Amino acid sequence: MQEQPEPTRDPNVRWHAGIADAALRARCARQRGVTLWLTGLSGSGKSTIAVELERSLLEAGSLAFRLDGDNLRHGLNAGVGFDAAGRQEAVRRAGEAALLVAGAGAVAIVGMISPYRADRDRVRARHAEVGIPFLEVHVDAPLAVAESRDPKGLYAKARAGEIKGFTGIDDPYEAPAAPEIVVRTHERSLAECVAALQAAAIAAARIGA
Ligand code: ADX
Repeated sequence: MQEQPEPTRDPNVRWHAGIADAALRARCARQRGVTLWLTGLSGSGKSTIAVELERSLLEAGSLAFRLDGDNLRHGLNAGVGFDAAGRQEAVRRAGEAALLVAGAGAVAIVGMISPYRADRDRVRARHAEVGIPFLEVHVDAPLAVAESRDPKGLYAKARAGEIKGFTGIDDPYEAPAAPEIVVRTHERSLAECVAALQAAAIAAARIGA
């Protein structure tokens, strides 16, 4: 795995601190921002859960915003590849975007395969640095289940050799070693998975938590 490139630190580009602090922002948003990072195989259910969770949190009065890996690849991550360096950069950018969203007081819901542990750990470390809670959620389904769902027909293409380096087929998925939450989508209903994540998000976002 290649080293994370050092972000540009031009000495003429300075950090400009604000005077609105996290407490003022939390009072305004009536919650603290947090990041829920959903990682798992393609077809494990990340996007389906993220969509329901976002709506459910909003309906409960908690500002939530979804950052979907596929969607990010239409804009912020457009042109970023699927080799190890590309995924590392895609995950880094999504992590920084989540920090902005959560920094504004929302529940940032990220759904990305993010297959490499080291990349996710860097995002976790950045959250710790900034002081924003980071909940790693393993959206867990066995490969055979994810492959049988194959919502986009991509496993079939990967098996046929039409996509190279597909996660779970000829590229690794490194499951989280110590995720805050695991949802097993082959054993639990969508509603149960969403309810578990919603409870965790609201608890972490509670002012004074
Ligand atoms: S990540 O690995 O960089 O985190 P991300 O979540 O952004 O992946 O995008 C995954 C989506 O890209 C999959 O849902 C699938 O539709 C598509 N895709 C295209 N090529 C690949 C590949 N080689 N491995 C996994 N997903 C791929």
